[in-house]
Formats: sequence, C-alpha cells, structure tokens
Amino acid sequence: MKTNVLMVCLGNICRSPLAEGLLASKVNPENIKVDSAGTSGYHIDHSPDKRSVAIANLHELDISEQRGRQFVAEDFDRFDYIYVMDNSNYENVIKLARTEEDQRKVNLILNKIFPKENVDVPDPYYGGDQGFKNVYDMLDEATSIIAKEIS
Ligand code: 4NP
Repeated sequence: MKTNVLMVCLGNICRSPLAEGLLASKVNPENIKVDSAGTSGYHIDHSPDKRSVAIANLHELDISEQRGRQFVAEDFDRFDYIYVMDNSNYENVIKLARTEEDQRKVNLILNKIFPKENVDVPDPYYGGDQGFKNVYDMLDEATSIIAKEIS
C-alpha cells in the first residue's frame, strides 16, 4: 500500500509546491505519493510562483509542472499525512475535518524540526528572494526528516 502525503499552504504557489517537490525527490515514487494544495482558491491551475521555481532550479529540482488546486474535505480520505505550512493553514484545514481521525492527520511541517513549537513557515509571497531561500532551507530540512520516517 502506498503512503500518501499532502503539503498545504494558502495559495499553493509558493511554499507547498516546494515542499511537494522536495519530499518527492527524496522518496521512492513507487511507495510514496506526494501532492500539494492551497486552502484558498486564489491560484487554481496556476503554475508555482517564479521565485519558488527559481530557488528549486538552483538546487536542480524542477517544480514547474505543478498546478495549483484547492484543499477539499475528501483529501482526508486520500492522504495519510497532511503537512500544513503555518498556523492559519492549520485552522483552515482542521475546520474541514469530519472526524478525530481526520484531525490527527494534520501537522505543522516545522514541528518535524522543532517538535511541539508550532513554528510557521513564513509566507514569502510579499517579500523578496531571501524569503524564498529561507523557506527552501526550512523545507529541505523538514522533508529530509519526513522522508526518513516514512521510507
Ligand atoms: P503560498 O503563498 O501560500 O506559500 O502559496 C501565497 C501565495 C499567494 C497568496 C498568498 C500566499 N495570495 O494572496 O495570492
């Protein structure tokens, strides 16, 4: 049986596409499926933000084929682990949970590095390139831990 992992942010164009690409590059695709979604519908069918594509390219990771989609309650049925980027994503996803089992699937991704501290991956959308570099570095570290745990 495959393990299914979903990465979630607000727009599904900056942070969660990087998290998806990074984790997918670290696991065996025959055993583990990785996807991403946004809690908003702002960027449905859009490509990832150019700045996320650029920082990924710098690390020889191609995320340009991903397209934005919105998180739906049925994602709780399709995914075993749902990693959200910040506390606001957490609240928005938890609102759609139907059962305690759904709720238990949701975790802040940086709790993998800083257990129980509930630290946000800062939204880099309105900032400069340095914000994207910071996000990349945090997600690189967190996804290495996740890959080790589920592989
Ligand atoms: P993301 O960043 O949640 O990391 O994809 C954002 C992208 C777009 C918007 C906000 C955050 N927006 O307001 O359009």
